Amino acid sequence: MKRLLTTPIYYVNDIAHIGHAYTTIIADVVKKYWILKGDDVFLLTGTDEHGQKIEEAAKKHGIQTIEYTNSISQKFRSVWDAFDIDYDKFIRTTYLEHILGVQKAFEIMYDKGDIYKGEYEGQYCVSCESFFTQTQVLEGVYCPDCGKETRIVKEESYFFRLSQYQEKLLEWYKNNPNCILPAHKRNEVIKFVEGNLQDLSITRTSFEWGIKVPFKLKDESHIVYVWLDALMNYANALGYGLDYNNAKQQLKHKPEQNPTLESKMEYFEHTTHIVGKDILRFHAIYWPAFLMSLGLPLPEHIFVHGWWTIDGVKMSKSLGNVINPLEIKEAYSIDILRYFLLKEVPFGQDGDFSERALINRNNGELSNDLGNLVNRLIGMSEKYFNFDLHESFTINHYQVEREKIDSLCHECLAFMDSMQPNKYLESVWEILYLANSLITQVAPWELIKRNAFEDCKAFLNLIANILAKVTLLLYPIMPHICEKIAICLGIRINHEQFHSLIIQYAYLRGFQITKIEALFPKIEEPQMKLHTQKINNHSHVNDMAKDSKTQSQEIFSSLKIENEITLADFQSIEIKIGTILEAQKLPKSNKLLKLKVDINEERPRQIIAGISEFYTPESLVGTQVFVLSNLKPAKLMGELSEGMILACKDSHGLSLLRVEKEKENGSRVS
Ligand code: MSP
Repeated sequence: MKRLLTTPIYYVNDIAHIGHAYTTIIADVVKKYWILKGDDVFLLTGTDEHGQKIEEAAKKHGIQTIEYTNSISQKFRSVWDAFDIDYDKFIRTTYLEHILGVQKAFEIMYDKGDIYKGEYEGQYCVSCESFFTQTQVLEGVYCPDCGKETRIVKEESYFFRLSQYQEKLLEWYKNNPNCILPAHKRNEVIKFVEGNLQDLSITRTSFEWGIKVPFKLKDESHIVYVWLDALMNYANALGYGLDYNNAKQQLKHKPEQNPTLESKMEYFEHTTHIVGKDILRFHAIYWPAFLMSLGLPLPEHIFVHGWWTIDGVKMSKSLGNVINPLEIKEAYSIDILRYFLLKEVPFGQDGDFSERALINRNNGELSNDLGNLVNRLIGMSEKYFNFDLHESFTINHYQVEREKIDSLCHECLAFMDSMQPNKYLESVWEILYLANSLITQVAPWELIKRNAFEDCKAFLNLIANILAKVTLLLYPIMPHICEKIAICLGIRINHEQFHSLIIQYAYLRGFQITKIEALFPKIEEPQMKLHTQKINNHSHVNDMAKDSKTQSQEIFSSLKIENEITLADFQSIEIKIGTILEAQKLPKSNKLLKLKVDINEERPRQIIAGISEFYTPESLVGTQVFVLSNLKPAKLMGELSEGMILACKDSHGLSLLRVEKEKENGSRVS
């Protein structure tokens, strides 16, 4: 089946970061998986280059808008090339083929009566390029999506009759349960649409950087709304606008030429979009409504992913914690990053990127379960059979184990088909656990001791078969690593092999093993620049002249932090506010007090605190303190202590830490 698979097109007001990389990597994973299953997949990515936000960003940099977009667009492309993303086309909204497609679509919708002229008055968020009503914005000004200040816009505008598509949209969601995945995102969209859709303003007149409405409207000052412009890329990249002959727009610049010469619209029949949760509304409401108006096929799926934070903090340029994907590539292999991103969080949920967590995944499951298994196979096949494992595996061998493996393969496919890549990986790991534990149970070295050479060879063949299946399953996620394992096993990674070993549960009769280097060497230390330095460097590099080393920078870099922890480490510590309800001395102890502290749980905690020399029990009752609440309970002088009260001691004695103003019990300190 021919399928179109898309990433969003990226705004060129920023350079690529790990969040963008996530969207693009997922698309590449899905493409590889579908190709293995036998589809013909056209992967589309590109850059979104029009609109007020971009115009303003270029102005800020003091260069022509097109020069600015050329340079950032190229940077995005280079990142995807460096990441070996297998895209089939990189569309830019400044390409002529795109401009023609947008004008064609506008004209069709206009001729159909779906577009009318009026006046728009409301709030506009330039950062999200999104319209809001006065009641939607927070505190009268702030964007409900990104929190930035919105502007009041009052201008003549063309409107799209979105309200007329409400019922049709609801019907589409209802009849296509998998149109938006994960399913709870579909429910969110349905709720939103049920709450009444307003017509959508689809032109702006207060700036210039965009596509003009079709010439025949004789309304030169109207620029097509950037989201209508951007969404149309998905069709235009396949040649939707090629037959549009009415274009009379005098282009201010010569658009880059990367023409689609022949229509590939047949791919549009089966389209899947991958988007972040922030742009779901545009893809799940506006886009299908536009498509209905244009008489084009609706997407088959919209896969919606969550957002990444860095060490628990939202990525932002001003904080300087935006991680450039190329930095990760330099420090670790792309495959480890791909694995991490897909395994770390269930698809659709938010995740936290921490270098330590990535290292743990490499040193843990990748090295121990996968890397080790490959090593063990290489080692034993060399030692016992000089790498030659041919012609020993038959249909009668290991039937029970094979049934289990076959059913896990089946389960894997179901998970990926329903866009649950982390569960897919969990099932692949079940297969690896099984293989590793079989080695312990069967103990091939014992078979050799007993001269059961054929049995040992058949067993190693079972392990090699398992690894062959795992390699095919993991290829979409870790293509480079899997190509190495394929060399080791002497197998090919392609649709035929996938079909045979995964779909039809076939087993190969024998293998010729080739020795390869260790796949996941343990990583001792974080390889990227320390994050604290990164925050420092980035904010200075971005906001100040690059070569002017400021005093504060020098002070910062010379500071040596002992026992440094990350924000994620800190976040694993739970400190809560609690009120001391009871306090009494512990008999036989001069130092310890037994406290009952309310931290808003079903019963107060009992905490034994060494503060008796400094506080009388009566003076403590009713006071609010800081409680380390996820400390492992311990017994002190035979009494259970379920936490710790925070205090500070110096040469003047001990003081409990207390809150400045009363807080609710159980409030978390952060
Ligand atoms: N230009 C629009 C998309 C138009 S598609 C017709 C746009 N661009 S964007 O550059 O702001 O975002 C592109 C994608 O990157 C979105 O899917 C967005 O969710 C994703 N991400 C941006 N920051 C992200 C994180 N911090 N984490 C995960 N993904 C995030 O929106």
